[in-house]
Amino acid sequence: MLRIEKLTKRFGANTAVDTANLDIDKPVMIGIIGRSGAGKSTLLRMINRLADATEGRILFEGRDVTQLTGKAKRAWQSDCAMIFQQFNLVPRMDVVSNVLHGTLNRRSTFATMFNLFPMEDIHRAIDILDRLGIAEHAPKRAEALSGGQQQRVAIARALMQDPKIILADEPIASLDPMNAQTVMEALRRIHEEDGRTVIANLHTLDTARRYCDRVVGMRDGRIVFDGLPEQLTSGVAREIYGAGEEFSEAATSTQIETLDASTHALRPTRSEALL
Ligand SMILES: Nc1ncnc2c1ncn2[C@@H]1O[C@H](COP(=O)(O)OP(=O)(O)OP(=O)(O)O)[C@@H](O)[C@H]1O
Ligand SMILES: [Mg+2]
Repeated sequence: MLRIEKLTKRFGANTAVDTANLDIDKPVMIGIIGRSGAGKSTLLRMINRLADATEGRILFEGRDVTQLTGKAKRAWQSDCAMIFQQFNLVPRMDVVSNVLHGTLNRRSTFATMFNLFPMEDIHRAIDILDRLGIAEHAPKRAEALSGGQQQRVAIARALMQDPKIILADEPIASLDPMNAQTVMEALRRIHEEDGRTVIANLHTLDTARRYCDRVVGMRDGRIVFDGLPEQLTSGVAREIYGAGEEFSEAATSTQIETLDASTHALRPTRSEALL
């Protein structure tokens, strides 16, 4: 289905992703782990063509997507929807319009300019929000929702594209544990019920172990582990993170510092121990 061959990305002298190989032959939920700067985001961005590979190929159903341009490239970008840590919603716009923006790729400039959405798409957007348990928030401004709800809006927007693959770059790194769980469960359901592949960069080992069928570990741009969650022992994790005996799994966790009640904005702090 998806095959990554010797994929490399260099920024000047710095090799962010170094001859990475990955083979996905059936819909799967994959967690990518590794310390800060290991190349996780760059790998996802190359898959989605937000960044161009320096070398190597990405084959989807036999077709090299690194070579696509124009309309074919945009079609591929719809097929592999991206979700970000900071949700990337339009804060002042209502939830349902944010979700409808997932159809922008196939709408005319005229329709986009005047915010015209077909009734059929509006119903679909509400159905998707309902599935994610947030339909009642459809008319609210996105900024009025909690972080976990906003991330589910971002997932709904991705689902509007009917993607085959969902790429999630640290989808829960800004969320408190409760919201993080809701968002991971939503991604898991989308994988299981719809048969979509989910590839998520994750900061915590326990999240990768709990929700993913397969875990990929990156270190200095290279894929140094690719296996089942149960194979991800503390020793293997220590190798991936390049840490010594003092390595503690807790140090891979995202800690939430404060919750600003007035805006529901969460300010995360990552543990600095391994960064
Ligand atoms: N646009 C860019 N220009 C120059 N260097 C970059 C760029 N994007 C990433 N890099 C470098 O590539 C390397 C990998 O970065 P990347 O963001 O992929 O890491 P990451 O594993 O996602 O880290 P984090 O956990 O902090 O998100 C880093 O050394 C980074 O500084
Ligand atoms: Mg990153």
